[in-house]
Amino acid sequence: MVVARQVEAVQRALGPFFEAVTRRPARPVIADFMAGNPQEPTLPGFVEALRRWSVPTSTDSFAYRPMHEPARQTAAASLTAELGMDFAAQDVFLTRGASGAIALALNTLVDPGDEVVFLSPPWFFYEAMILAGGARPVRVRLEPPDFDLDVDAIVAALGPRTRAVIVNTPHNPTGRIYPAAALERLADRLAEAAQRYGRPIWVISDEAYSRILFDGRSFPSPGLFHPYSMLAHTYSKSALAPGQRLGFLALAPGLPEAEVVRRALLSAGILMAPDAVMQYALPDIDGLLIDVAAIERRRDRMVAALRAQGYEVQIPEGTFYLLPRAPLADDRAFCAHLAKEGVAVLPGHVVELPGYFRISLTANDEMVDRALPIFAQAIERS
Ligand SMILES: Cc1ncc(COP(=O)(O)O)c(C=O)c1O
Repeated sequence: MVVARQVEAVQRALGPFFEAVTRRPARPVIADFMAGNPQEPTLPGFVEALRRWSVPTSTDSFAYRPMHEPARQTAAASLTAELGMDFAAQDVFLTRGASGAIALALNTLVDPGDEVVFLSPPWFFYEAMILAGGARPVRVRLEPPDFDLDVDAIVAALGPRTRAVIVNTPHNPTGRIYPAAALERLADRLAEAAQRYGRPIWVISDEAYSRILFDGRSFPSPGLFHPYSMLAHTYSKSALAPGQRLGFLALAPGLPEAEVVRRALLSAGILMAPDAVMQYALPDIDGLLIDVAAIERRRDRMVAALRAQGYEVQIPEGTFYLLPRAPLADDRAFCAHLAKEGVAVLPGHVVELPGYFRISLTANDEMVDRALPIFAQAIERS
């Protein structure tokens, strides 16, 4: 065996993802709803920030260096404004996107044999990341059609080896924003379980879409209720430039033994920080936001059109995804049919939800124009 045995399990977990994204389209793609990728020009402010900060101002601009303090301060101030509780710069750890933040949390928290609970349908990398971190993934299913946060099911999955629960809100792929009351109940039950098992149970809160909110909604973070929380944030979604890899992990205010955890995070993350240019650019990028109103309009247009065609689809509260039921039980076959017509969507089985498919609303309006008649034909034929 030339590679680690553990990587086999990681590869197995990522199999459906690779299968979906590496399949060659039969035809040129005329409407790309597959991933949360930009299909419109990059925000001008983002381009300006990169231009500005890619010019070195001293010989050590691009030297090895500690995390850029102004970036940590900006991130802390913006979280404070967003969540209404005080975050300190020393509790912000810069990472390569939310995935870097989740990996840092796992590196810092789990030992071999620990269990990490995740909720299904999940973001497709959780299981692989938990395995790569050396822990055992424990899956808890959320039930359609609403995919509510099922606190009892989560509690039933806890045990003496549980180290953390990954909660993602706003939730990819269902678009749910979990209500404060459910998060509070979860926090209470985790505290009870921690008492029972003699060690804290962390929440790793994946808040990648915290700024992509619809209908004037606000975003309650699990960190408001559970002090043992690490919050994963990213600019991949708010600035929609995910290839540039910028985000951070923040400790919830009020964490007991915070200094021990800070030191551990600094060590575990010492080589995981974003490139210098991205760190310098963070204060400029933090203030940017894609046109969420345009995404909301696209959501409304597509939900109305798809429902009129006969598709079952819920209205997402946040994120930029729609999750319709496929008219065929075999979501692979249905998505292959759409792909033949040049419409790329993500088959539900990739997010552990066979019989569904996911549409990314980051597609542009012309793509929606081209795709709607093809969605209509596809449901008529099935
Ligand atoms: C729920 C969720 N978490 C994390 C990520 C990863 O974000 P990043 O690109 O910042 O690593 C994504 C990206 O698709 C996501 O949808």
